[in-house]
Amino acid sequence: VVDDPIPPTIEWHEGRVRMIDQRRLPGELVLLEAATVEELCAAIRDLAVRGAPALGVAGAMGVALAAEAGLDLDDAAAAICATRPTAVNLAWGVHRARAAADPVAEARAVAVEDVERNRRLGAHGAVLVPVGGRVLTHCNAGALACAGYGTALGVIRAAHEQGRAPTVWVDETRPVLQGARLTAWELDRLGIPATLVADGMAAGLMAAGDVDCVVVGADRIAANGDVANKVGTYGVAVLAAHFHIPFYVAAPTSTVDPDCPSGAHIPIEQRPPEEVTMLAGQRIAPAGMAVDNRAFDVTPAALVTAIVTEEGVARPPYAESLAALCRWG
Ligand code: MRU
Repeated sequence: VVDDPIPPTIEWHEGRVRMIDQRRLPGELVLLEAATVEELCAAIRDLAVRGAPALGVAGAMGVALAAEAGLDLDDAAAAICATRPTAVNLAWGVHRARAAADPVAEARAVAVEDVERNRRLGAHGAVLVPVGGRVLTHCNAGALACAGYGTALGVIRAAHEQGRAPTVWVDETRPVLQGARLTAWELDRLGIPATLVADGMAAGLMAAGDVDCVVVGADRIAANGDVANKVGTYGVAVLAAHFHIPFYVAAPTSTVDPDCPSGAHIPIEQRPPEEVTMLAGQRIAPAGMAVDNRAFDVTPAALVTAIVTEEGVARPPYAESLAALCRWG
């Protein structure tokens, strides 16, 4: 969309993959180009491009780069899939392009379809946001996490476009601050009122009666409805259940993994310790401090009020509702 306030996150441009370099936001809006599979893998590992649906597009475009270069596609697919294990969309995008006769055309189609899916998903989810609702979100599940429009932020954006006047509590999302850096930037561009909070404030906000619902994205949804998302999401879900606040997950069906029976089977990425010990180039922990930097956690299906997809809204029991929406079997 030409007049979208948020430019395309990732696109195929003259034989290269052109991406917003998300490491530089919110300070600078800079584009990064990957001309080789290696460059693309580095951009994925370093979080220049991140977010499950955007990783799906990146995976497909990585295979397209390999095809254009005449490389072995199985080797390229394996290298791309090895960059980040949790978001199932990455392997999904890789396999879509790998299976296509024209990987470039397929990769471009994955990007176009992603935006369409997110708009449909947003429309399904918008009605769940109460008029004037105060929505808490964690991490960034916006246009930057996708080819465009966003999933959790797509729901909020659609509610905004429908005049439901949502306002947003933005969790800063330590350690990499996707909330403070990316979600806050997007909501500002979209003109949606938002307030940034430290992650530890969620309980206090909910206890004060200041949160009407939670909407988050997902990196992988198991067949039973367990949801992997950015670390800290599980804690928000536990709090929401305690305070009887609806907890919604918004994700395209490409994030649902029919081959993963439960959250226990979802691989959780361990990221470099420096993400925790350093902040804005400054050391904030003693040198040599032991660090556990699991990038994701798994929210049990029992804490999820509903899962919003482009095909509709799934409610418990998820084994049945997800199977019906995703048309398995
Ligand atoms: O490590 P990231 O930034 O890739 O993690 C992203 C998330 O956890 C998002 O919430 C998820 O991918 C959904 S994006 C629509």
